[in-house]
Amino acid sequence: MDYDLSEKRKVVLGITGSIAAYKAVEVARQLVSYGHEVRCVMTDSAQKFITPLTMQSVTGNKVVSDFWEGGSAEIGHIEIASWADVVVVAPATADFVAKLNAGFAESPLLVICLATKAPILIAPAMNCNMYTNVKTQENIQALRSRGVFFIDPEEGELACGSSGVGRLADPQEIFYATRRLISRADFKGKRVLITAGPTREPIDPVRYISNRSSGKMGVALAREAYRRGAEVTVIHGPLKSELPRSVKSVEIVTAQEMYEQVLAHAFPAGGIGVDVVIMAAAVADFRPKETAPNKIKKSGVLKSIELVKNLDILLALGEKRAKTRNPLLIGFAVETGEIEDLINEARAKLERKHCDLIVGNFAQDAFDLETDRVWLVDRSGKQEEVSTTHKSRIATKILDRVLKL
Ligand code: CTP
Repeated sequence: MDYDLSEKRKVVLGITGSIAAYKAVEVARQLVSYGHEVRCVMTDSAQKFITPLTMQSVTGNKVVSDFWEGGSAEIGHIEIASWADVVVVAPATADFVAKLNAGFAESPLLVICLATKAPILIAPAMNCNMYTNVKTQENIQALRSRGVFFIDPEEGELACGSSGVGRLADPQEIFYATRRLISRADFKGKRVLITAGPTREPIDPVRYISNRSSGKMGVALAREAYRRGAEVTVIHGPLKSELPRSVKSVEIVTAQEMYEQVLAHAFPAGGIGVDVVIMAAAVADFRPKETAPNKIKKSGVLKSIELVKNLDILLALGEKRAKTRNPLLIGFAVETGEIEDLINEARAKLERKHCDLIVGNFAQDAFDLETDRVWLVDRSGKQEEVSTTHKSRIATKILDRVLKL
């Protein structure tokens, strides 16, 4: 588990009467597994879809569902409202959104939403026509303008049989959005550009040269930067884990495409560039000199493939920002030898590619694994070892260090 106990937070999870109510189980489970304390508040109609016992079992806390339980329970609701670090309503029906906007206090959940000073995140789920209805949209707009956060529903087939926008956002996305609201926002306002995954260099239409990178380190960095409030763009090859929906994803195939996209995002013509670039991608160093237009048949004669060197993206970035030292530039160094060689190589890359920080690691510790062991080498002359841990924990350490640069 990779949660940071110092960031353990108190979450009120409100559930209203939608067929998507069962998905709240997964939202609660994720929050609990990351060490957060979750208290569920269910409306009467929510209980027609899932039982309070289900939510109590997942969260370990009694579910609030009734005003009158325990006598003067209304005081209890106000207490919960001030106890919360965040209030998440998932799923939220059109009726709930309308009542919240109008200021109704007819259910414990509405009371809590009215009384809390904590941020409120609403994940609507409803029939697509109800969602696009002008009244619902007005309610959402009005709540947004009062500082309520929304996580938009997705497009797809709905339980009512129709198809359109209205399906509850993926529980994973609700979890990411919640975490962003309850985490220290030390990257708020920062624009972070991350590269991730391998590049693929085509030999012919069916074959390519690539490497074993899974992109998990880059994705972990993107999740972490997003959690801590950054505006994140990821330029990436094929990935084996998913990026949060709110992160801008730019998919590329070759090193040349990655080069063009990275330079365009880091130094946009006439625009505002980024604050931090982290080159976590495993860029192929070589590509076939020629790409065959048709599949190379084994009956043909192929003795060798001539390779040419790809451009070094990190070096190009480093040279471009050498004078200003802006944006901050973080590279990786992947080696296979001894620790001493790794540190020396990381130092050499730090200088040669004009970086602020190099994350050194061994191929056997990193490739296609959930964990890694790294050495952080910066210009202070010292290095810090982060012993084997989940890549999300490594991402936390890297971003902690970036803040100190
Ligand atoms: N990198 C890059 N462009 C390339 C190759 C690598 O931007 N064409 C970046 C990687 O994203 C990484 C860093 O350079 O941040 C170091 O990559 P690594 O493969 O360890 O080293 P190389 O620079 O390729 O050198 P060598 O393979 O000789 O160690």
